[in-house]
Amino acid sequence: MKLGHMNLGDIKFFAAAIVLAVVVLGLAAGAGTVFYPTQEAAKRGFSVDVDAAGKGAKKEEESDIGTLLSQADAKRGQQLAKKCLACHTLEKGEPNRNCPNIYGVLGGPFAHRADFTYSSGMIAKRKEKGGWDYDDLFAFLAKPSAFIPGTKMTFAGFDKKKDIADMVLYLRTKNDTLPALPAPKPKAAEKKAEAVPAENVKP
Ligand code: HEC
Repeated sequence: MKLGHMNLGDIKFFAAAIVLAVVVLGLAAGAGTVFYPTQEAAKRGFSVDVDAAGKGAKKEEESDIGTLLSQADAKRGQQLAKKCLACHTLEKGEPNRNCPNIYGVLGGPFAHRADFTYSSGMIAKRKEKGGWDYDDLFAFLAKPSAFIPGTKMTFAGFDKKKDIADMVLYLRTKNDTLPALPAPKPKAAEKKAEAVPAENVKP
């Protein structure tokens, strides 16, 4: 049917059909924005739980922190740190925002800023353990709320050990003196070779 041959009635009919289509599409899109976020949030929460209970715990045995750090990439950690910058400042001398500045946190005490009001969980950790080491940072960044019950840090945590290692290797550079890295654990095969006193750590 050519447009030129349409009479006024046809044109009105098509116009009405187009208006109807637009309204239906609009409603569908509207419904989408109403329903999708809740579904996605539910899924995300679920997958985090599954990971924390299952995979995450098993993987921990596969690679020790020293090995993970020896394979880590601080540049990538710098990219990942953008997530932290939403809340934290990382550089020396920067003020706290709503969250504490975390320069110098590795090797420093839990709740290391005197001018920030920490959760009671963080204060309790300080009494129990003193200061942040690599193990603590790994555990905290995997799931803050599990390591510090009642923490004010509402960050879900990283699912992948590789992400944590990259993040921690970068965070390590935000310090006056670079804290020493933990030595990678020797693999079972390499342990035999070590029977000869080959360790030249320090005389
Ligand atoms: C939603 C905001 C938020 C995000 C995102 C966040 N943090 Fe935090 N972080 C906090 C708050 C709030 C505290 C204080 C926690 C408390 O008092 O329990 C904290 C505490 C910490 C501490 C302990 C500081 C101290 O003085 O002992 C470290 C370390 C830390 N965060 C690292 C990180 C890293 C690394 C990232 C990025 C992967 C990150 N945080 C992302 C809010 C955040």
